[in-house]
Amino acid sequence: MSQLKNDLLLRALRNEPVERPPVWMMRQAGRYLPDYLKLKAKYDFFTRVQTPELATEITLQPIDQVGVDAAIIFSDILVIPQAMGLEVLMEEGKGPSLPRTIATAADIDALNTADAAHHLKYVLDALTLTKRELAGRVPLIGFAGAPWTILCYMVEGKGSKTWDKAKQFAYTQPDLAHALLQKITTITIDYLKAQVAAGADTVQVFDSWAGALSPADFKTFAQPYLLQIADAVSPAAPVILFPKGTWHALEDLGRSSASGIGIDWTITPQMARQMAGSRITLQGNFDPAKLLAPIPEIRRWVTEMIDGFGTQNYIANLGHGITPNVPVDHARAFVNAVKEYKARA
Ligand code: CP3
Repeated sequence: MSQLKNDLLLRALRNEPVERPPVWMMRQAGRYLPDYLKLKAKYDFFTRVQTPELATEITLQPIDQVGVDAAIIFSDILVIPQAMGLEVLMEEGKGPSLPRTIATAADIDALNTADAAHHLKYVLDALTLTKRELAGRVPLIGFAGAPWTILCYMVEGKGSKTWDKAKQFAYTQPDLAHALLQKITTITIDYLKAQVAAGADTVQVFDSWAGALSPADFKTFAQPYLLQIADAVSPAAPVILFPKGTWHALEDLGRSSASGIGIDWTITPQMARQMAGSRITLQGNFDPAKLLAPIPEIRRWVTEMIDGFGTQNYIANLGHGITPNVPVDHARAFVNAVKEYKARA
């Protein structure tokens, strides 16, 4: 076991005492960092993802430049559809697209669920290399997309504001939807376990589009698969679930085998804690758009946020990914405000 010099994140996830809350930012690697944009001009997206040296370099940038308390491996949630046999294109300004979408039982039967570690070896190599380069400075986070969010992309073939095609598929052909969700779950569990074996200290499951579902539909099409992943992976490493937009589910998720739950800014810290119970670690929930405000305002809002959550059993983060237009010094101000937090008397 490597010795971590800064293990705040892991202590917070284990519900152990911390001097201050750990802080990292979803989507912290890439997008808004000038050094990332230089690499982006030289190499296309999947070259950056599939070349361990590049992925490692990008992963380390926010550690060196912004001072976060954890690294999250540079990759994408859509490597799972690729490993299952679907082509994924990433076109500048257009976001991801999948030329061949999933609609029928035959489409689902044709999907691969075996050998995640073989198909995604480059991610595992990037984790191992990053772990070595970090030399114990901060913990390393692995990740995957949640089954519902991956289904959304597989059925729609691209991003959507409403996800109506994905929902139509789930509501009109629930048996097929469950078959697909189970296949994604199976390979994702293998993939996350392989990430832990390769060096990830903890893993986060991004259910970015869970909030498109009603509470009842979330319980049908998303939650059981999130819980299956948490149950299967948590013996190996702490699991953080991030089903964005689903604070209605906090009571159930608080009783799960996950160690942490990410929440967005549509709920107060006090309500979230009350619903989730005292055991689970909460992560969030700063509105990333607030990083566009003047720095003194950012600092004041961070103080209010931590006043609300308390310093223990809590990971300071955004409520969704940082956007490309955030100035680096504003991201740094967010991180420093957490590090310098002093509880009000
Ligand atoms: O901290 C990090 O950013 C680590 C790497 C990371 C990426 N994607 C790299 C990336 C992570 C954690 C993700 C997760 C991801 N990917 C999610 C879940 C998180 C969320 O924001 O909800 C989702 C839904 C995706 C799918 C995806 N990938 C989209 C919708 C896009 C295009 C728009 C965008 O920028 O988010 C991508 C491309 C992508 N993935 C980029 C990066 C840095 C931008 C493209 C580029 O820089 O060339």
